Amino acid sequence: MSDRFNQWAEAIQSDIEEALSHYLPAETSGLGQLGQLNQAMRYAVLNGGKRIRPLLVFAAGRLFDAQDSVLTPVACAVEMIHAYSLVHDDMPCMDNDVLRRGKPTTHVQFGEAMALLAGDALQAQAFAVLANAGGDVSLNVARTRILADAAGPAGMCGGQAIDLASIGTTLSYDELEQMDRLKTGAILKAAVLLGALSGGKPSDRALEALETYAQAVGLAYQVVDDILDVTEDTVDLGKTAGKDARDDKPTYVSLLGLQESRKLAGTLCQQAHDALGQFGMEAQRLHDIADLIVNRKK
Ligand code: IPE
Ligand code: IPE
Ligand code: MG
Ligand code: MG
Ligand code: MG
Repeated sequence: MSDRFNQWAEAIQSDIEEALSHYLPAETSGLGQLGQLNQAMRYAVLNGGKRIRPLLVFAAGRLFDAQDSVLTPVACAVEMIHAYSLVHDDMPCMDNDVLRRGKPTTHVQFGEAMALLAGDALQAQAFAVLANAGGDVSLNVARTRILADAAGPAGMCGGQAIDLASIGTTLSYDELEQMDRLKTGAILKAAVLLGALSGGKPSDRALEALETYAQAVGLAYQVVDDILDVTEDTVDLGKTAGKDARDDKPTYVSLLGLQESRKLAGTLCQQAHDALGQFGMEAQRLHDIADLIVNRKK
């Protein structure tokens, strides 16, 4: 990664951290159980996470001259949905994980009921933040629909349902791809589209190219996640390594093996780069993020 990209990414990550902190309920507000809920929400979102989805929102938004003041709440909304999905993904009824972002998972720290509620509340808060992101009503409706579709039964939740129903089974390549496009790809794709729609109106041709890019990086994201589960250790990952095989989950690695999975990640990365041709140098940040997604070590 170039120094310029790293500086750009660090500046956004730090702004997003601050904005997320602002959009979340204060730790001290509310007594007893309400205070617990607020703490659990903050715990699940702050101080950790690569913030790749916010980076995608900003990189796509800049292509269409979107303002930071709009991109920031949009990016925070996407990240809150993502954080909620992780809280629920880690719960005993799903992946039953005890470590996330180098810390005990939210249900380990706050109990299952509070983790469940923190996830629910984060989802609601995400849409509240998105609704106030600015722009005219029709733009707001369009953005709401994109995020809701990406999070719902035809998106992340649907993919998670397939994931849980697939434990101990062997999926075909097409089935695995469908699961991962939904459980992981959908929110990443939404990040790109929401960023793009937050500036001047993109042409149909531009949107189509961004969709192709987003689908490629969205799938690559889960291919790499499956690879890292096997190749990295728990300390580096900040989550329990080797968990997929232990849980008998169908993954790219279990279906294709490591070498073919790496090849696939490379092919998807190339597809992402190719899709951006029409934008020239303007899309450099999106190119960089595709490389980051495929070359990351955590
Ligand atoms: C992990 O997401 C879950 C998947 C969708 C693969 P990330 O790897 O983006 O997790 P954080 O946000 O950086 O912790
Ligand atoms: C999670 O996929 C995708 C989500 C929607 C949260 P994984 O279950 O593979 O994510 P990790 O490995 O726990 O981060
Ligand atoms: Mg899972
Ligand atoms: Mg998991
Ligand atoms: Mg995983």
